[in-house]
Amino acid sequence: MRSPSLGLALVGAAAAATQLSAIGSRGDRVNNVAIIGAGAAGSSAAYHLQRYAAQEGVPINITILEKTEHIGGRTVTVNIYDDPALPIEQGASIFVAVNHILYNATKHFDLPFGSLRDDEPGDITAIWNGNDIVWQAVEGSSWWWDVARMWWRYGLAPYRAVQLVKDVVGTFLRLYEEPHFPFRSLTQRAFELGLHKVTAITGEQFLAEKNIKGGFTTDIMQAATRVNYASNLAHIHGLEAMVSFAAEGAMSVAGGNWRIFDKMVRASGAALLRNTTVASIAFAKGDVEPGAPRKYIISARDAGEQTADAQELATAFDNVIIASPWQYSNIGAAEGVLKHHIDEIPYMKLHVTLFASPFKLRAEYFKLQPGSKAPSNVYTTLGPDEEAKQGPDGVGKTGFYSISTLRHVVNPKTHKREFVYKIFSAEAVTPEFLSRILGVKVPDSFVGSTQEDGAPAAAVEPISWYRPHWFHSYPIELPRVTFQDPIIGPGLYYTSGIESFISTMETSALMGMNVARLIADDVAGKKREPDTMPSGQDAKGESPVLQPDEL
Ligand SMILES: Cc1cc2nc3c(=O)[nH]c(=O)nc-3n(C[C@H](O)[C@H](O)[C@H](O)COP(=O)(O)OP(=O)(O)OC[C@H]3O[C@@H](n4cnc5c(N)ncnc54)[C@H](O)[C@@H]3O)c2cc1C
Ligand SMILES: *[C@@H]1O[C@H](CO)[C@@H](O)[C@H](O)[C@H]1NC(C)=O
Ligand SMILES: *[C@@H]1O[C@H](CO)[C@@H](O)[C@H](O)[C@H]1NC(C)=O
Ligand SMILES: *[C@@H]1O[C@H](CO)[C@@H](O)[C@H](O)[C@H]1NC(C)=O
Repeated sequence: MRSPSLGLALVGAAAAATQLSAIGSRGDRVNNVAIIGAGAAGSSAAYHLQRYAAQEGVPINITILEKTEHIGGRTVTVNIYDDPALPIEQGASIFVAVNHILYNATKHFDLPFGSLRDDEPGDITAIWNGNDIVWQAVEGSSWWWDVARMWWRYGLAPYRAVQLVKDVVGTFLRLYEEPHFPFRSLTQRAFELGLHKVTAITGEQFLAEKNIKGGFTTDIMQAATRVNYASNLAHIHGLEAMVSFAAEGAMSVAGGNWRIFDKMVRASGAALLRNTTVASIAFAKGDVEPGAPRKYIISARDAGEQTADAQELATAFDNVIIASPWQYSNIGAAEGVLKHHIDEIPYMKLHVTLFASPFKLRAEYFKLQPGSKAPSNVYTTLGPDEEAKQGPDGVGKTGFYSISTLRHVVNPKTHKREFVYKIFSAEAVTPEFLSRILGVKVPDSFVGSTQEDGAPAAAVEPISWYRPHWFHSYPIELPRVTFQDPIIGPGLYYTSGIESFISTMETSALMGMNVARLIADDVAGKKREPDTMPSGQDAKGESPVLQPDEL
């Protein structure tokens, strides 16, 4: 058996279950909670549930089931040259200061902040539309879309956009506070806060309504929605478009953002079963006391033995949190378990390619004068005559969303300086493409293989380390006004509905914190104000920050 942990848990749980019924008869029994998935949502749920339960003085026993060995889900690092001293993000890489959960946790756990990129003075960041560089900025200052440097070209649009982003983010942040927190229905909260007006239309429409138009939207804002959500402005809703632009004070954790979630899991005191794939959720058999809610039985198998039969965990769970997109989790729900159907939503399939090379990007590829300095970071947008398509087709003529030079490293074999690049693309990167952007022949054999040892040293290898990976990265964020609510059955919760609203580590962590609060309230018998509020007003009697007519 590859995962002794699961076997032990099954035995241990059986023993404890007997004790439990004894405790149960005294009326102060432990509430057993299963969390499926140890990404941002599941880890945050565990961490906050432990804290809320302690505050309320209710005994809680948390079990996290994670199909991989790894904590963090889509927040994942790989090691440059396979050297653990050189980790680099392949999944979610940045968060911002207003991401209160991630920011607070980083501080609380005393994790060091890392640098986003090894920029050097004079490094150029450019936006490329397949024909021309439409914008460029020289690094050394703060961020590539420094508004002050844009006014001469784009007039007031950048200032208006920054103000709009602030308003929308400010409204979103009310979800963290009473009376908006916790929430049983995200759809309803979005409506109460007026945010449904922002999600109902495309980013392009939302900006146009606010009189933000022209080159600033097609060049700059679209580059932001493409690098953040692999989407053109015409196919992403207004809220997610605003989030793409809310990159002020971008930060990351040195060694990997997953460390936040790892700390959360540890601090929660939860039992963690790694390499454990949940196969099904069913109701516990046997009679239930009248009025008592039914418990859940979870079946799981060792992730290394996908053909083996799943085994039931001995613990019957009072609450289950499904903290992974349902459509990709391969979990079967027994008849009647899901009181609410979970809609399938289209996800983007995104290729993320990391590689190291001694070569710089080639200026000529971007139609710059031969010999001129090439950009270190290239974001993309559509050409003026290109149709903005949806999903992977939307990548258009450039064929990629972004190329960034992230690190300057020393190749341990050659002892020469190399650059570590990251490419976001709709299709797998090809050797031809790499040859063209680097201006050097990249042999076919480099792509798809992982360059293990033993490769004969050519004069200079164009690519010394190569890590392609693809993800179902985030939903294709089409306009919508309803979102999968977090309660999908009695004691059964789902976190991924928030991804159609905003897909970030922070929002998943927020939904984890929200369901943790709902469970703690429930166990503690804490009643809150009814979840409805007079329309157009919140409980303090104020109007929403974003006036509906203003939207
Ligand atoms: C390339 C890329 C770049 C991104 N960039 C950013 C960024 O810069 N900033 C940002 O904030 N966000 C970014 N995101 C989005 C962010 O990663 C996600 O929104 C967030 O991490 C989702 O967290 P989650 O916990 O909801 O889901 P996930 O991270 O997907 O976690 C789900 C977990 O459940 C586990 N699981 C699934 N099925 C089962 C099962 N049957 N049994 C047991 N376990 C199971 C999975 O293994 C996984 O660990 C990016 C995403 C990608 C892919
Ligand atoms: C999980 O699986 C991997 C790969 O099969 C293995 O190396 C690792 O030891 C396992 N971890 C646990 C906790 O079972
Ligand atoms: C807590 O959950 C674990 C399963 O992860 C189980 O083995 C243990 O018996 C439970 N403890 C109690 C007191 O229910
Ligand atoms: C973050 O920390 C601040 C300061 O301690 C606190 O006021 C706030 O409630 C915290 N927010 C979250 C979401 O943890």
